[in-house]
Parts: sequence; structure tokens; C-alpha cells
Amino acid sequence: MTWLITGGAGYIGAHVARAMAQAGEAAVVLDDLSSGIAGRLPEGVPLVHGSVGDREALDRVLAEHRVTGVVHLAAAKQVAESVEQPLRYYRENVHGLTVLLEAVVAAGVPRFLFSSSAAVYGVPELDPIPESAPCVPINPYGETKLAGEWLVRAAGRAYGLRTACLRYFNVAGAERPELADTGVFNIVPMFFDRITRGEEPRIFGDDYPTPDGTCIRDYIHVSDLADAHLTVARRLAERGEPGDLTVNIGRGAGVSVRELAALVGEVTGVPVRPVVEPRRPGDAARAVASVDLIAAELGWSAKRGVREMVESAWAGWLLRHPEAARQDG
Ligand SMILES: NC(=O)c1ccc[n+]([C@@H]2O[C@H](COP(=O)([O-])OP(=O)(O)OC[C@H]3O[C@@H](n4cnc5c(N)ncnc54)[C@H](O)[C@@H]3O)[C@@H](O)[C@H]2O)c1
Repeated sequence: MTWLITGGAGYIGAHVARAMAQAGEAAVVLDDLSSGIAGRLPEGVPLVHGSVGDREALDRVLAEHRVTGVVHLAAAKQVAESVEQPLRYYRENVHGLTVLLEAVVAAGVPRFLFSSSAAVYGVPELDPIPESAPCVPINPYGETKLAGEWLVRAAGRAYGLRTACLRYFNVAGAERPELADTGVFNIVPMFFDRITRGEEPRIFGDDYPTPDGTCIRDYIHVSDLADAHLTVARRLAERGEPGDLTVNIGRGAGVSVRELAALVGEVTGVPVRPVVEPRRPGDAARAVASVDLIAAELGWSAKRGVREMVESAWAGWLLRHPEAARQDG
């Protein structure tokens, strides 16, 4: 078995590559390094510099490394940017996936694992959210992830693949400081960014129908997420009928934005008094995963808590922002 990990030099991909390498699974990474960092890859996992939209590069890597399964993480992932540049998002996330699936089918690779997102649910009406909940994405990013799931399942049915679509909830933390998320698009690094600048973290709306009035989300440690990939990949590698497994990856536990801000204050030692700004359009009051399906299908559940996420993310932040340590109590 050799796994091709697309986007394996990215934040989540590097954790997946590491989990696979540590578990003794052979892997190769294809990454165009548009946001990835080559130095994140663990020893023994080669990097092929190329794009999932490049059919020749795909044919080469699938053949040369005798790839028998694909974990597809490469994507553009910023919601706001997707609203401004929908065509780019459809090209990267949907066209890129189509080219990849064509290469996969032509090479006879029988397993395909796809990075999806809780963004496919849009503004969920169910709490917790089961995988059977209606998928009504509210931005082009979420649309491309839902279209991606459709493509993966349709190709799986037509060509006899074993497929999995993993709907990640809010990813945070790092296995090691150098693997931390370098973007400031998710809430934990956004809070760190504000306090490093000497500004208060922002909370968008505190009049939601939740106990403290702020939005509630389901945070998942990136190391747990990587472990889930390994578990699912191994399930796909077992003998069995073609078919699809679409599952949420979360903890099934909600944390409010205000609770998270307080935890960031405790971990960083910086007293935080979040400023409340108006609600953002499209933010649900509560978005928490039902994790029953993955528990039932794979016996998998997350192990790490939110404090571990914030502590490990802060260690990564300090590595790249030593100036923040001045405020570190
Ligand atoms: N971070 C999150 O909170 C989150 C939540 C839900 C889903 N996801 C999904 O997880 C996946 C990984 O996200 P991440 O947070 O690690 O992002 P990231 O930007 O750190 O990683 C994406 C990686 O893909 C590479 N890449 C982008 N376009 C490529 C292309 N055309 N060909 C080859 N490589 C390409 C980038 O260089 C980067 O290494 C994405 O599919 C994203 O949509 C992320």
C-alpha cells in the first residue's frame, strides 16, 4: 500500500503524513506549495512538487510510486476569499478534483479519501448535526466541498472505488510547534494575532440563543483529525465491497467563543477582554457534530481537549512570533 497525500505539506496534510509515516504506512506527497511548507514533511515521505490540476504530473506520481490509495487534502480553503473569487475556488477545488479522479480511475487506484468540511451543512438546523442533515452550503467554499463529495461518491459508484468523505469541524492545535497552522483564518490563530498586536480578541455577536450569547462550535485537535485519517485509510485498505463512508470528524462537544477567548487568556497569560462586534451573516448559533456514526462504524473518537489545542497552537505561534512571548505570562 502506498498513499498519495495531496496537499500533504499543508497544516492538516503534514499531520496526516506524519501519522501515516509513524504508523508504518508508505506515503508520497503531491503539493504545489502554494500555502504548504516542504520542511513540514516527516522523514521518509517524499515530496513531489506539482498540482492536482496537472494530469501529467498525476499520472507520473501514481505510476512511479505505485500508489494504491489517495488522501486528497489539497484545496483552497478561505471562506471570504471564496466569495470574492468563486471561479478560482471552483477551478481549484472542483476542477482539480475532477482531474485527480480521472487520473485515479485511469491508474486503477481503488481507494479515495476526501477532505470535506462542516461548511457543507451551511446554517445547520439540527443539534448535534448528523451526517444525514440537509447540506445547504452558504458560500462558494462550502459549495465546492459539497460538489467534491458528489464527485467522489459518483466516481466511486461508477468505477467501483472505496471512498470516504470526512467532514471536519473546527480544526485547531498542532502535534509539534513547527507543524502549527501559519494562517490566521481560524479562530485560535486569529485570537493570537490580536493579542500579539496588543488588541483585544473580537467576538462577532453576543446575542445568540446560547448560554453566554456567543456562538458555539465543535473544535477538533489536528492530531485527532490525523488519527481519524489513518483509521479511515486502514478501513478503506481492508478487503471489502466498493462503497462510501461520509462521516463528521469532531468531538461532539460545544465550546462558546467566549469560553475559548477565556481559555486563550489563561494559556497565554494575557488578560483578554474581548470586544463584541456585530454578528456576521451566516454564522449559526451552534454547530456541533454528531459523532455517533464514526464511533459506530470505526470505533473512533477524539481524545484531546480544547486546552491541549490552545496550548499546542500557542507553542507553534510563539515559534513564529517570538515577539508575542513578551506578553506571555
Ligand atoms: N483548516 C481547517 O479548519 C479545515 C476545516 C475543514 C476542512 N479543511 C480542508 O482540509 C484541507 C487541508 O486544509 P489545511 O487547513 O491543511 O490548508 P493548507 O492551506 O494548510 O493546506 C492545503 C495544502 O494544499 C496545497 N495545495 C493547494 N492547492 C493545490 C493544488 N492545486 N495542487 C497541489 N497542492 C495544492 C497547499 O500548498 C497546501 O500545502 C483542505 O481541503 C480544506 O478545505 C480544513
